[in-house]
Amino acid sequence: MGKKKLIRFQDMKTMDCVFEPDMKTCLEDSFPLKGKWRSDYFKNDKPLIIELGCGKGEYTVQLAKQYPNKNYVGLDIKGSRIWYGADEVRREGMNNVGFVRTKVDFVEKFFAPGEVDEIWLTFSDPQPKKPRKRLSSELFVDRYRKILKSDGIVHLKTDNSMLFDYTLEQIEEHNYQLMESTWDLYGEEMEKLDKETQDILGIKTHYEVMFEEKGFDIKYCKFSI
Ligand SMILES: C[S@@+](CC[C@H](N)C(=O)[O-])C[C@H]1O[C@@H](n2cnc3c(N)ncnc32)[C@H](O)[C@@H]1O
Repeated sequence: MGKKKLIRFQDMKTMDCVFEPDMKTCLEDSFPLKGKWRSDYFKNDKPLIIELGCGKGEYTVQLAKQYPNKNYVGLDIKGSRIWYGADEVRREGMNNVGFVRTKVDFVEKFFAPGEVDEIWLTFSDPQPKKPRKRLSSELFVDRYRKILKSDGIVHLKTDNSMLFDYTLEQIEEHNYQLMESTWDLYGEEMEKLDKETQDILGIKTHYEVMFEEKGFDIKYCKFSI
């Protein structure tokens, strides 16, 4: 491991906004904030929005700045990426953000039934050869259903046509309710949206900027399950 990475890993251990649960905690289902994010961590009763595969946490942190009246938690397995978002949260003294370093596969171990209002899937790995590992597969959506409120929403933003097509197919096949969908978010569609939605969808992640520069159209959909 590089020296910088090592320093960041050490640094993360000192950050109040980062949780790095071990496997035992997952297996024993003993994460202390499960069902208690609002009461014990955020210390308020406001909506809870999570980003899965958050990378450097751009969506989590930017949304948290735009909506100080909501709570945000980003999950990713890569601590070296989470560090960037967590460092910004620390520098800016934000109190409405948390990060969990974990596999999304364990998401139900960190949130209780109905605890989550919205889920963001931002530029998730398309997993071309392993459909079950896609974060919009039935396997994962069944996990999300357990932690989402009954009217909870899933947002998906991607550059990847295969993943987007697959997600739309899943929505149709499993009778999820498609609320919005566009193959070219920054084309004409954006202008039709209200200012608030434009501000939300206009947040760009590290991967989004990379793919946009390569000329990929950005796709977006929103559905409830
Ligand atoms: C292509 S990157 C996108 C990162 C970020 N959302 C962005 O848009 O810049 C995919 C991210 O998902 C994470 N990831 C993929 N599968 C995961 C899983 N099963 N559990 C946790 N993280 C996962 C990777 O570590 C990586 O940071």
